[in-house]
Amino acid sequence: MKQKVYITRKLPDEIVDRMREKYEVRMWEEEEIPVPREVLEKESEQVDGLLCLLTEQMDQPLLKNANNLKVVANMAVGYNNIDVDEARARGVVVTNTPGVLTETTADLTFALLMATARRIPEASEYLRHGKWETWSPMQLTGQDIHGATLGIIGLGRIGEAVARRAKGFDMNVLYHNRSRHHEVEEALDLQYVEFDELLKESDFVCVLTPLTKETENMIGREQLAKMKKTAILINTARGGIVNEDALYDALKNYDIWAAGLDVFAKEPVSVKHRLLTLPNLVTLPHIGSASIKTRMKMAEVAAMNLMCVLDGGEAPNKIRE
Ligand code: DGY
Repeated sequence: MKQKVYITRKLPDEIVDRMREKYEVRMWEEEEIPVPREVLEKESEQVDGLLCLLTEQMDQPLLKNANNLKVVANMAVGYNNIDVDEARARGVVVTNTPGVLTETTADLTFALLMATARRIPEASEYLRHGKWETWSPMQLTGQDIHGATLGIIGLGRIGEAVARRAKGFDMNVLYHNRSRHHEVEEALDLQYVEFDELLKESDFVCVLTPLTKETENMIGREQLAKMKKTAILINTARGGIVNEDALYDALKNYDIWAAGLDVFAKEPVSVKHRLLTLPNLVTLPHIGSASIKTRMKMAEVAAMNLMCVLDGGEAPNKIRE
């Protein structure tokens, strides 16, 4: 009898067909609507393998009833949507998709940094709304990127790729991380600093660390108060790392100059969220890895991890924390 697989969102045929050759595959056929919780619960109870997105909460109540489940393959590098401890206790392998999205996410992070510093969305709206009546000396002026100091929180693959881009813009790059990366420091001319020093010295603070119990609300009132008045906060990691109430107040009072967010504590963020009323906030709908090539690769890697486990092998991207 074929093993059973459930895919929680419509994926391209070529990837699904590869799995259909070996397994009995069912899939949530919508692209823009997430699988309802009750459907996910029912499917999880029956399958051997589950390929999911970061929109699915693979938590304890769900895993508890997934008696045949051997693998949860997340189509993302972040896996804060999965209770890894519970999965491990039940012998369920959890996998992610590192590597393939590094450069694409670094591109977007840098694009958001530049768009925020140079007020690009605001300037575009200004023109489209007929406000451009003359050129004037201080009109739509922003912050310089070249020569500025960038502080990277979390020097993983994406952090390193952002640092490389920053060096191309003649930026001075500081970083803070759980552990030091001496080789990268030397190769890219980065400086390791304590967290507080990074906050105080940086013109741009870029959050690129995973969301864990330790990093949740890592940037709150106290941390924002340590930043320069001219500083810009960029978050392309996970929403829960930055406290949104504290950020709202800091932006509203111009305690920091601006922020660029690709991620929110609750996604999709409500259009009524008060952060979205602020002129000094640039927002995106979690598109860090959203290039056609990269999303295809992420789907392929997730499928490959799932198939490795179901075929009795070792998944290359097994989470081992
Ligand atoms: C991830 O992979 O964790 C990103 O947030 C989505 O690509």
